[in-house]
Amino acid sequence: MYIVFEGIDGAGKTTQIQMLKEWLEANGFRVETLVEPTDSEVGRLIRRILERPDAQSEGVQRVLALLFAADRMEIMNRLEDESKIIISDRSFISSLVYQDDPEWVSVLNKYAKRPDLLILMDLDVKTSVARTEGKDTFENEEFLTVTRQKYLELSKDYTCEIIDATNGINKVSSDVKKAVAPYLGVCPDCIL
Ligand code: TYD
Repeated sequence: MYIVFEGIDGAGKTTQIQMLKEWLEANGFRVETLVEPTDSEVGRLIRRILERPDAQSEGVQRVLALLFAADRMEIMNRLEDESKIIISDRSFISSLVYQDDPEWVSVLNKYAKRPDLLILMDLDVKTSVARTEGKDTFENEEFLTVTRQKYLELSKDYTCEIIDATNGINKVSSDVKKAVAPYLGVCPDCIL
C-alpha cells in the first residue's frame, strides 16, 4: 500500500508520518517512509536549486518540475515492494500544486505512481503562518491560500482522507490512524 501525505507548510506531515509509522510497526506491519525531494543525486540537486534566490522564477520552476519528475522516477522500484506499507512525505501531487501548468506537469508525471490513499493535512493559512514563523520560507498568505485551495480541489481526484491539521499532535495522530485503519482491513479499535 502506498500512502501519500500532502499539505501546506506547518501542517505537521513529518511528525504525523513518524507517529503513523511507529503505530503500524507496533501492530506488526512492515513500513518504509520516503521524502520527496529524495536523497538521490537528483533530489540533492533540487534542494540546492530551491535555496537559490531565483528559485521562484518561472524558468527555474520549470527546471524544478522536470527534476522533481526525474527524482520520482528514480524511486519507482522502491514503491513496488508489496510486502511493505510505503508512506511518502509528498508526491507528484505536490508538483501539480506547486509548479505551474498542471497539464504539462501531468504529462511529465505520467508514470508516477498514484497513491492508494492520500492523506491531506488541511490547515488554515493563519495557523500555517504562525507555525512556520522564523522559518526561511517564501510562502506568503496569498500563496498559501491558493495552495490550500488547489489541494482541496485536487483531493477529489484521489482516494483521499482530509485531516484537520489545526488540532493538537495527539488528536491529529488519532484522526490519521482512524482514517488509515479501514484501508488496511482492520477496525481502528482492533489494533493498538
Ligand atoms: P519540504 O521538504 O516538504 O519543505 P520544507 O523544506 O519546508 O520542509 O519540500 C521542499 C519544497 O519543495 C516545498 O516547498 C515544496 C516543494 N516541492 C515542489 O515544489 N514540487 C514537488 O513536486 C515537491 C515534491 C516539492
